[in-house]
Amino acid sequence: MTPINIILLSLLVFMAYLRLRPKAPNTLPKAPPPTVFKTFTPPTLLPYNGTNGMPVYFAVRGRVFDVSSGRNFYGPGGPYSNFAGRDASRGLACGSFDESMLTKNLEGPLDTMSDLGPEEMESLRGWEERFEEKYLVVGRLVPVDSPEAKEAGLS
Ligand SMILES: *[C@@H]1O[C@H](CO)[C@@H](O)[C@H](O)[C@H]1NC(C)=O
Repeated sequence: MTPINIILLSLLVFMAYLRLRPKAPNTLPKAPPPTVFKTFTPPTLLPYNGTNGMPVYFAVRGRVFDVSSGRNFYGPGGPYSNFAGRDASRGLACGSFDESMLTKNLEGPLDTMSDLGPEEMESLRGWEERFEEKYLVVGRLVPVDSPEAKEAGLS
């Protein structure tokens, strides 16, 4: 036996082992922390602004994100605290955290943003992708006067 033979033999044995060894049980990916997927209307989303021990939520195109881990930005006193407990879609799309970006009538329909152009919608899409990576979706936002809200006992 030369050293080369020994190495080759070891390699063969090792490869045979790899093929024949029992398959490790499939380990499931770690489950995300359990979250109750809730239905919100603009008025019921409002208290989620980080005060009174509440988490910080905001909605983007009908999805409610828990942005509590970003409360320095979105929580009380943060530069974007305007959006806490609100539908942030228009403001994100337009790149403005101005009060005027918020839907005024909380009892009315959700902002469809039909007046915005492709650039704004593209920008919004970019924000959504970032939020999807960083934050959990904890619910959906529906208008007060909707079958979904009625079903959830919210109107
Ligand atoms: C947060 O929400 C509570 C309850 O809706 C309200 O009383 C409070 O003024 C809000 N705080 C801020 C900073 O908007």
